[in-house]
Order: sequence, then structure tokens, then C-alpha cells
Amino acid sequence: MTEALLELKDVYISYLGVEAVRGVSLRVTERDFVTVIGANGAGKSSVFNAISGLVKPAKGEIWFNGERIDRLTPPQIAGRGVIQVPEGRKIFPLLTVKENLMVGAFMQRDKKKIAENFENVYRLFPALKERPTAKGIRLSGGQQQMLAIGRAMMANPKMILLDEPSLGLSPIFCQQLSRQLKALHNEGKTLLLVEQNARMGLSLANYGYVLENGELRKEGTSAQLLNDDEVKRAYLGV
Ligand SMILES: Nc1ncnc2c1ncn2[C@@H]1O[C@H](COP(=O)(O)OP(=O)(O)O)[C@@H](O)[C@H]1O
Ligand SMILES: [Mg+2]
Repeated sequence: MTEALLELKDVYISYLGVEAVRGVSLRVTERDFVTVIGANGAGKSSVFNAISGLVKPAKGEIWFNGERIDRLTPPQIAGRGVIQVPEGRKIFPLLTVKENLMVGAFMQRDKKKIAENFENVYRLFPALKERPTAKGIRLSGGQQQMLAIGRAMMANPKMILLDEPSLGLSPIFCQQLSRQLKALHNEGKTLLLVEQNARMGLSLANYGYVLENGELRKEGTSAQLLNDDEVKRAYLGV
């Protein structure tokens, strides 16, 4: 087996003694595109928040790039190159597009690298390039999602965690977002995507995990899961 960039080993997450995630193990290798699909409340965001350090696992281990990270603080984990695009975008509504992107670059000292990252973001998201001085609140939902992803790109991430980017977007914006995420992956980024929209998650990623009530039910290549009768019935509405 190739060395995993990210590995969760038997992770448990509790809130005030109530177990929300039980025994989740998953791995993402470098340059991979992996998805975790699951219904609302399955524990997807909890898993992401454990990876980025916002919640501490009650049990289990999280490893990134050969280092155990589940005892580190969120800024330390971000510093290692794991950047989360949170559910509901969470951009800064009163900052401009450019200012929002600069926030993502706060750990960067290298001016040339920052300029290069701006170019990358604007190439992937021309809609942002057209409105650098627009306040976040003035953008459409789809553009706010682009801005949230762009902000993550500004941090030079080794891996981007995307928490339900399609939530609340119109079908047209979903299609556009799908193309942009594919392009981001093709540029060499390692992506981990959680989605209630299983069809979108599996059509984009190479490999998928199915999370149900805090436990992993299934895993496989996206092709395997798209053809799985249970997955079809429960998640694809077939
Ligand atoms: N901060 C919290 N405090 C208490 N319970 C929480 C908290 N965050 C999530 N939960 C619970 O944990 C379970 C999983 O939630 P979550 O990880 O947000 O699922 P998903 O992202 O798949 O919708 C749910 O039952 C939810 O109510
Ligand atoms: Mg969630």
C-alpha cells in the first residue's frame, strides 16, 4: 500500500458523552480525490472538524504527512497544510473579494508566492477576478463558495477539506463547481470532499466512503459505489 498523506485510525468523537462518530478509519493518498458521503447528521462535519483540530477525538489517531496531528491546535494543523473549507462557506461578508483572499494568505511571507496564488485563484474562478473589490455579502451563493475555496487555495494547502460545497447551490452552479473542483484536482491538489449530494461526490472523486450514523458502512472506488445496489437505493434515488 502506498503511504497515506492523511490517515484516520479508529476515530471516535463525542459531544458531552454522546458518541457522534464511532470507529472511523480512512486514508487519502497524495494527489487523490476522496469523498465521504452521508445523510444529514451522519457525522461528516465532525470528522472534518477532528481532522482540522476544532474537536478532539475521544479515541483514535489522525496522521498527516507522517506526523500524528490529533493533539495539535487548529493553527498548527493549518500550518502543516491541511485547510478546511467550512460548511456554509463562512466568508467575511464585509470584506472585499481581495481582502477575503488575503485572509487565506495570512501565513504566507513570500510575496511572490502570494501573487502566484492570486493568479491561480483568479484563473480557476474568473467570476472573482471580475469583482475584486465587491464585498463578500454582494456575491451570489455560488460565488461565495468559489471565494471560500479560493481563500483555502491562498494558504498553499497540501490538502483541502471541502464540507458540502454544493449545499444550497442551484444545479447550474453545482455543475460549474464540479468542473472547478475537477480542475483543482487536475492541477495536483489532494482533495477530501464530504457531500450529502452523493451523486456529485462520487462523480468527482476516485474513491468514496459511506458514513451512516457515525459509522463507515462501505468504501470502494467511486465506480464500485455508483454500481452498488444499497448505495443506489439509499443515496442515488435509483
Ligand atoms: N457541537 C456539537 N454539540 C453536540 N452535538 C453535535 C455537535 N456537532 C454535531 N453534533 C451532533 O453530532 C452528529 C453528527 O453531526 P455532524 O457531524 O454535523 O453531521 P453531518 O455533517 O454529517 O450533517 C449529529 O447528531 C449532531 O447533532
Ligand atoms: Mg455537516
